Amino acid sequence: MNLSHQKNIDKQVRNLKIKNDFVRSHFVPTEGIKYSGSKLKLLPYILSIIKSLQVKTVFDGFSGTTRVSQALAHCGYNVISNDLAIWSKIFAECYLKGQVSKQLEEKIRYLNSLPGKTGWFTEHYGGKANKGLAIQSDGKKRIWQVHNSKKLDAIRPKIDKISENNIEHSVLLTSLILALDKVDNTLGHYVSYLKFWSPRSFNKLKLTVPLINRKHNRHRVLNKDIFDALKLVKKADLSYFDPPYGSNNEKMPPSRVRYASYYHIWKTICLNDQPELTGATNRRKDCNDREAGSVFEEFRKNKTGQFISLRYLDKLIKDCPSPYILLSYSNGGRVTKKEIRNIIEKRCKKLKIFSIDYKKNVMAGMRWTRDWIKEKEEKNIEFLFLVEK
Ligand SMILES: C[S@@+](CC[C@H](N)C(=O)[O-])C[C@H]1O[C@@H](n2cnc3c(N)ncnc32)[C@H](O)[C@@H]1O
Repeated sequence: MNLSHQKNIDKQVRNLKIKNDFVRSHFVPTEGIKYSGSKLKLLPYILSIIKSLQVKTVFDGFSGTTRVSQALAHCGYNVISNDLAIWSKIFAECYLKGQVSKQLEEKIRYLNSLPGKTGWFTEHYGGKANKGLAIQSDGKKRIWQVHNSKKLDAIRPKIDKISENNIEHSVLLTSLILALDKVDNTLGHYVSYLKFWSPRSFNKLKLTVPLINRKHNRHRVLNKDIFDALKLVKKADLSYFDPPYGSNNEKMPPSRVRYASYYHIWKTICLNDQPELTGATNRRKDCNDREAGSVFEEFRKNKTGQFISLRYLDKLIKDCPSPYILLSYSNGGRVTKKEIRNIIEKRCKKLKIFSIDYKKNVMAGMRWTRDWIKEKEEKNIEFLFLVEK
């Protein structure tokens, strides 16, 4: 590991303000964008649970930022990473298959040195500083200040030109996305932008070498709907599932809690396809609910009053070929943990439930049993259901 990577790790440890010994001892360096539902803080717990089992190959079925895949690869597991989102596939290729080299460092230096130029991204997502106000003359707010969107316009096409192969292409795109995330004008999603430019949006875009830090190369990357991916992962000893559960915030229109819509901009940067745009935030038109919605984000109930998404959760457990399943669930979802437990119990031999209190940084294990410990539906609690089929 080079010096800048080590510094990066030290910074991550400082930023996480880790006081708890358990968390500190299970800390694994990873990278990612701001992401609703990222399991960054849960990583030490996920790793310690998996470590207690005799598993070699782990399937990360809804990998998102790939933080979990990265951590597992760092610990030496064979990882199969899957997500529906194209940018997640790009991240997985970078961290699970990419290589750091002198040439890569040179290419990143070259991309940083390119002078900015006005193009499609600046036209739709770049804005003037405007005495701190991000609202532009057309009444719309923007993601990046022009000095950064112009850099994006200059760098994005060059990545296609200078990449030696698909994997290097993914490494450079990941580097660009990470850098853009650090200077954006949002609260961490792209369905609304801030009215006043965020302090970080004034900084200059700077690409860095991604923190590629795995033990070996025996990893696979898939970019499929979970039910298609499950047919290809027969050899996984454990499947980690972190599906979207929707939001239980009734005030939020359901279309606003969809991952495809939340992170439309990263898809556009990966594809660089100048898509048709819509709405006040210039979202991709093909990121609407009808075309890009996930069955796990389905917020409606069936005639018996059960959430439709639960049917798919049941199918997920049933179709999963791995002997172990580790399922994440947070209290922020629409489905209750009781509903999830009922589904799992039908299909498993053994079940252990862990609850993690983020604020207190503690994990409580709940025995291999079908008994359910009564717990209040508290906020800031994450659950991990360890299922043995
Ligand atoms: C809660 S996030 C996962 C976060 C991830 N564990 C992390 O730490 O970043 C849920 C993910 O599921 C993906 N997804 C939604 N529906 C899917 C489907 N049918 N098949 C595969 N992935 C899906 C979304 O793109 C999103 O990245």
